[in-house]
Amino acid sequence: MMNEVDVQVVSRVGAILGEGPIWDAEAQCLWWVDILGKALHRFEPAPDSPNRETRWALAIEPGAVAPCADPRRGVVLVTPEGFARLHPGSGQQALLAEVERDNAATRMNDGKCDSRGRFWAGTMARDESPGAGGFYVLEIDGRARQVLRDVGISNGLGWSPDDSLMYYVDSHTGAVDVFDFDAAAGEITHRRHLVEIPEADGIPDGLCVDSDGFVWVALWEGGAIHRYSPDGRLDGKIELPVTHPTSVAFGGPELRDLYITTARCALTEAQISEQPDAGALFRCRPGPAGMGPNVYRG
Ligand code: BGC
Ligand code: CA
Repeated sequence: MMNEVDVQVVSRVGAILGEGPIWDAEAQCLWWVDILGKALHRFEPAPDSPNRETRWALAIEPGAVAPCADPRRGVVLVTPEGFARLHPGSGQQALLAEVERDNAATRMNDGKCDSRGRFWAGTMARDESPGAGGFYVLEIDGRARQVLRDVGISNGLGWSPDDSLMYYVDSHTGAVDVFDFDAAAGEITHRRHLVEIPEADGIPDGLCVDSDGFVWVALWEGGAIHRYSPDGRLDGKIELPVTHPTSVAFGGPELRDLYITTARCALTEAQISEQPDAGALFRCRPGPAGMGPNVYRG
């Protein structure tokens, strides 16, 4: 049934590696990044007038972005040097906590805030060599702590509606994993697979969780978004006109618009001419609603 969802391009920006979409409930806009294009994007949907789009060029690759509880504090980016605060208006940027700053072979990738306002994000080798990455959390006191080692490509994450589980993707494992989550302590334990994704379906990348507790996963190389039940059953698919979706996030006034970021860095010139919308921001209305997005509270 979900195959028939009408997926539309809402921003034809041609991102090199679009990533990290996150809805900002306060400002009613979607933040996202172009990692290799070194840019921060803001998309403000307007039902009756043209959407407003803003792009900020950055000096370094942003892996993910989080709005702050106090909008006057700007946004927090994950960068190849660590977690950094950015005031998009002035361009003023300050490193909050170093992450693998001395390791030029790695960069930070996907990340997201939990219900308590911590910011979780991991790293990967730029050449994607195995086991070079880690997974970290920025506490609200501004200190970063490492929570996992030997990560391949640290990617999508999200939480169950009751906050008892954290879903996590290391793309090199080809699986979506689940941890028990202790929200008060900020601890993850008891890692196991939620679902192993067959290679033919693509590589699991970014994800989000809806208010029914189902997990939406972008399939890099797979040209689709899959929806999995909390017990790991494939429940629905959205087919896309591009092969490399990177991440998904619910947004809009009722959190029913599913935004999808995509990439063109993995495509040849010939493939780009076959899928000219690669790198665009897409949107569809598959039915379920997302959960209220979290913000960084530090
Ligand atoms: C990374 C890409 C990587 C892809 C593969 C993305 O999150 O940013 O560099 O190729 O995941 O899964
Ligand atoms: Ca990703």
